[in-house]
Amino acid sequence: MRRETVLSSGWYFRKGAGEPLPFHLEDPGWRSVTLPHDWGIEGPFDGWIEPKFTSSTDTGAVFMPGNDTGALPWTGCGYYVHDFYLPEVEKGQSFRLEFDGVMSHSTVMVNDKIAGGRVYGYSSFACDITPWVNFGKKRNRIVVKAENPVYLSRWYPGAGIYREVRLVCLPQKHFCYNGIHLETTELDCIKKTATLKITAEGFSAEELHTEIRFGGKVVSIGEAELHLAGIELWSPENPALYEVTVRGGEDEVTLKYGFRKLIFDSNNGMKLNGAPYRFRGLCMHHDLGVFGTAFHKEVMTWRLRKVKALGCNALRMAHNPPDPKLLDLCDEMGFLVMDEAFDMWRTKKTSGDYHNEFDACHERDLRDLIRRDRNHPCVVLWSIGNEIPDEVLEQGAEIAEELVRICHEEDMSRPVTAAISHQKEEDKPELHAFAEKLDVIGFNYKPELYPILHKRHPNKAIYGSETSAVVSSRGEYFFPEPGIDIKRPEGYNSAYGTEYAVWSNDSEIMFQALEECSWVLGEFAWCTFDYLGEPFPHPFPNRSSCFALFDLAGLPKDRAYLYAAQWHRKETPEVLHILPHWNWLEGQKVPVHVFTSCASAELFLNGRSLGVRYTKPGAPRLVWDNISFEVGKLEAIGYDENLREIARSCRVTAGEPAAIGCRIEREPSTSGGTYVFAELYLTDAQGNEVETAGDELEIEITGGTLIGIDNGDARCLLPFKRRTVKLYNGRAMAIAQMKEGGTITVRCARFTLPCKIKF
Ligand code: GAL
Repeated sequence: MRRETVLSSGWYFRKGAGEPLPFHLEDPGWRSVTLPHDWGIEGPFDGWIEPKFTSSTDTGAVFMPGNDTGALPWTGCGYYVHDFYLPEVEKGQSFRLEFDGVMSHSTVMVNDKIAGGRVYGYSSFACDITPWVNFGKKRNRIVVKAENPVYLSRWYPGAGIYREVRLVCLPQKHFCYNGIHLETTELDCIKKTATLKITAEGFSAEELHTEIRFGGKVVSIGEAELHLAGIELWSPENPALYEVTVRGGEDEVTLKYGFRKLIFDSNNGMKLNGAPYRFRGLCMHHDLGVFGTAFHKEVMTWRLRKVKALGCNALRMAHNPPDPKLLDLCDEMGFLVMDEAFDMWRTKKTSGDYHNEFDACHERDLRDLIRRDRNHPCVVLWSIGNEIPDEVLEQGAEIAEELVRICHEEDMSRPVTAAISHQKEEDKPELHAFAEKLDVIGFNYKPELYPILHKRHPNKAIYGSETSAVVSSRGEYFFPEPGIDIKRPEGYNSAYGTEYAVWSNDSEIMFQALEECSWVLGEFAWCTFDYLGEPFPHPFPNRSSCFALFDLAGLPKDRAYLYAAQWHRKETPEVLHILPHWNWLEGQKVPVHVFTSCASAELFLNGRSLGVRYTKPGAPRLVWDNISFEVGKLEAIGYDENLREIARSCRVTAGEPAAIGCRIEREPSTSGGTYVFAELYLTDAQGNEVETAGDELEIEITGGTLIGIDNGDARCLLPFKRRTVKLYNGRAMAIAQMKEGGTITVRCARFTLPCKIKF
């Protein structure tokens, strides 16, 4: 029988200078850590970790502080040690260590023997440790070395064993690591019938026994091919999952699986389970704000709930293999996934990046990604790369051909894609050849070119693999807008969502393009949550990006409501979001925008109508320019096509802060305790939120652990683990793991009374 243990506690960690293994726990500097662990996120922030070359002078090169990777200390070497014992009765079994990801260039030793490791920090891998394990009272010691070269990445890559590690005890004849392949060989969406084929490396079809359950009931039993009738189809709207238990000899594995049919057509777009469908997608980076890159399923669940609530139905894993548990969540919660392997191939983006290893490692990394992820119903596209510089070089098409072949060899059921960026240039023969190697073509930005691109590649389905790199900082409103120079001296960008990178355009241009080009499969907008690093367009001291719909703390920016309005579906309440807040100087001319799913909206200031504005398909933003500010209530009423009221919302001028407010969200944890996300703010005497408040709050926790505090301010260089936080544009987020009976107390110097929450 198989026995699986997650190795999360009992690890020791120390930083090092690249000393060779093995290592001695008697050496100074070790400390106890729990996995997943990211040694970089602890800080401190320091712009000199990866300085930027600016120029050369007679006396040498001139550098300035760098922040491309978040100005956090993720570089260098880290060592991890974990001891374990195996019972004598397990002698004769096989043993495997499974790593979901170690950042990066890892070496794994077990009992002083090198058992494996991986250069690419995003790849999952396993080590067979059977020859070296001890039984009974004899200790087993795992030592893991992770080494991050400088200039490894364009964003914060994280550091160390940032994903789960498992020790798996297996019968002698067992299923290989990711060795089971489930394939739907026939699916009739109308008759609701399907055939599932199961293959497992090292096992013949006759050796396999399979049982399929749905909703707890066994629906089919057989060997390596099973026919099912009356199936429920999987889709983002109805993520119906079956449990497939595969037995081979004494080994047994249970996988979740979904039945769904996708067709990508160059002229007619995409069909999911027989009906027209589009990607309402977002790109997603792998860090989790205050957690760094340490993957916590509960935190990702909390994030995905927010994204799902906007109407998003697809995620692009930008630009590397995600944590496998993220794909479990996408299966369960319902997201289509573009699963991406690489951000570069042979030509570099940064000097220490994967281009140094591409030739030696790409085949293994790509095959392993597909073998790991091909049973997930959520995965619909394999992406072999993002904005690959080789796409315009002669070698581009050749490498693309090889990578596409690898994908097809491992999985014939999904198309292969890549995200192209040089399409503005005339139809370069190299780029054309590259694009034609793909099954489905992704184009980053430049939606104005879709008609031309459609003509250039008449037989290929195309889509916006990355769109709308709008820069916006939560709660920052600059007038007059839109901004001309987005590199604002303040270091922030306007929350109106009208400022964007030169290579991009605003969200609405993209929405319009989708209206006009019915054959485009949809889009993946840049991006879900702000991430550490890539703080475009602002140099140090900015630590994080500002491209996303939610800030680094997970708080929504106005831009999130624009997408909610655009992606709105009938079953959900109408979206009617007014911006900015309503605390300005008397008489100040304020542009008021309303993001809405309603057919039209009327704006009222202190009861006086300021007129009705009408939305159009792909244009959910209504604008009232130059509204002369007066204290009071700004109210919007949303109407349907017949001018019947269907929604109402308002902004009220807030008075002086009078109390601390706290909105709590929870995610239960299987590892004990509940993850608590406490959004902190101040209210005036009438209970209105004071969105301009910048007070400092102090947080005290009993019966729990404070994981981190953030206010989403890209210029805040305080470590995430601290007890005080200054509200940034009225808000901050404290994240804790709480036990029953624990308390969170929040104090503010303004008030004598604290805010106390009991769990
Ligand atoms: C794209 C790139 C992304 C990110 C984005 C910012 O060109 O693919 O990784 O850098 O720009 O706008």
